[in-house]
Amino acid sequence: MANTVKKQSRKTTPHSKPQIAVVPEFVPAVQTNAALIARREAAVPRGVASAAPIFAQKAENSELWDVEGNRYIDFAGGIAVLNTGHRHPAVVAAAKAQEDLYTHTSFQVVPYEPYIALAEKLNELAPGDHAKKTLLVTTGAEAVENAVKIARAATGRPGIIAFTGGYHGRTLLTLGMTGKISPYKKDVGPFPSDIYRAPFPNVRDGISVQDALTGLQNLFLTDAQPERVAAIIIEPVLGEGGYTPVPFEMMQALRDICDTHGIMLIADEIQAGFGRTGTWFAIEHSGVIPDLITVAKSMAGGYPIAGVIGRAEVMDAVIPGGLGGTYGGNPVACAAALAAIQAIEDEGLLARSTALGAHFRTKFADIGARVAPYRMWDIRGLGAMLAVEFVTDFETIAPDTALTKAVVAHALKRGLILLGCGMHGNALRIMVPLTASDEIIDEGLAIFEEALAAAVVELRG
Ligand SMILES: Cc1ncc(COP(=O)(O)O)c(C=O)c1O
Repeated sequence: MANTVKKQSRKTTPHSKPQIAVVPEFVPAVQTNAALIARREAAVPRGVASAAPIFAQKAENSELWDVEGNRYIDFAGGIAVLNTGHRHPAVVAAAKAQEDLYTHTSFQVVPYEPYIALAEKLNELAPGDHAKKTLLVTTGAEAVENAVKIARAATGRPGIIAFTGGYHGRTLLTLGMTGKISPYKKDVGPFPSDIYRAPFPNVRDGISVQDALTGLQNLFLTDAQPERVAAIIIEPVLGEGGYTPVPFEMMQALRDICDTHGIMLIADEIQAGFGRTGTWFAIEHSGVIPDLITVAKSMAGGYPIAGVIGRAEVMDAVIPGGLGGTYGGNPVACAAALAAIQAIEDEGLLARSTALGAHFRTKFADIGARVAPYRMWDIRGLGAMLAVEFVTDFETIAPDTALTKAVVAHALKRGLILLGCGMHGNALRIMVPLTASDEIIDEGLAIFEEALAAAVVELRG
């Protein structure tokens, strides 16, 4: 039957819908960052803060354009998600190919091969020769929560030990483990019980490895009975907490302590993993083999997927049906992850990370001395997981949060996206795609230098 276009009655009631929808003429919206900020403020809670007052229009590898057509070099990588860059062609192609087959069945209803292929790949890549199994979920916090569940089921114990400055997510259990109040934990407690905090070894706070280990032993004497502790969780390189690597002897000591007391060692590699430090997993630098590893972020080059990799017998401690979630291990994200991992292998991105790290260190030292003497106190990290920390002077090493914020703002104005970190917000972390060209890296570093110079002048008044 041929379609007939009826003139719409003006007096429509909820039950008398017009037969043919009137399609408005398509007028591309004229977007401005300011207009979108106003809409965002009206529609989105302020708790979801954004670092940059711009809105994305498109992005490619290490570059991003906002809705006004301004170009930016991206040193933030969507918070360490884009080791393979924005829209890596192989990642996008793999996701599209999977979308043409099926996008969701729920692995718990009808399972699919890409989940298994990714689990097999992660089991192969994770450190240690033992048999491993992998659970796939959707977000980093979910991975951490599941690692805790698995450790508890495997040991029959409740306790979890985390570290000062550690960040493990924003759900209530993971917030309990996260060691920083503002902004993450402020006003949203109470948090779950049986979570204990040990001191992180940090030169800045005058805490040596020995001090940290003494603190942990004191915790065993005062609050956390070791036979009741299921797991010790640590980021091999603190992420949000300031890009501070765990000294290798500390990691080894934690392994020994875990072995002595039958505690699971969980390496939270959500930020540090997938080539960021020059190895697949940051813990590999220390030679320590953890029982469980949490992964997410750069594993899938921009698609939401996370996981827990662990000793097969530990992973099997939870009864059938005790793990999972509707979207866990989404097939499109699995396909993207397999392609991202392949790209890291094919393009030699582990070696690239090490080389980039060395390049950044040299350049930062040079820029700091030239533009802001005695203000760039520390350049630290592993491979291309690198941060620079700003202080008011080298005598007191008082954190200079104002200078750090000013550098970020001046950099953005000049076309470079930077992100801070650290307990005092006075460090800038480098999460540039490992696929960025040398030219773009150096262009970004030149903007960083200009921004630092401008920030120093601005704050001097
Ligand atoms: C080390 C670490 N663990 C856990 C998380 C939480 O991941 P998500 O934000 O995907 O929940 C993060 C996020 O930044 C992280 O860096």
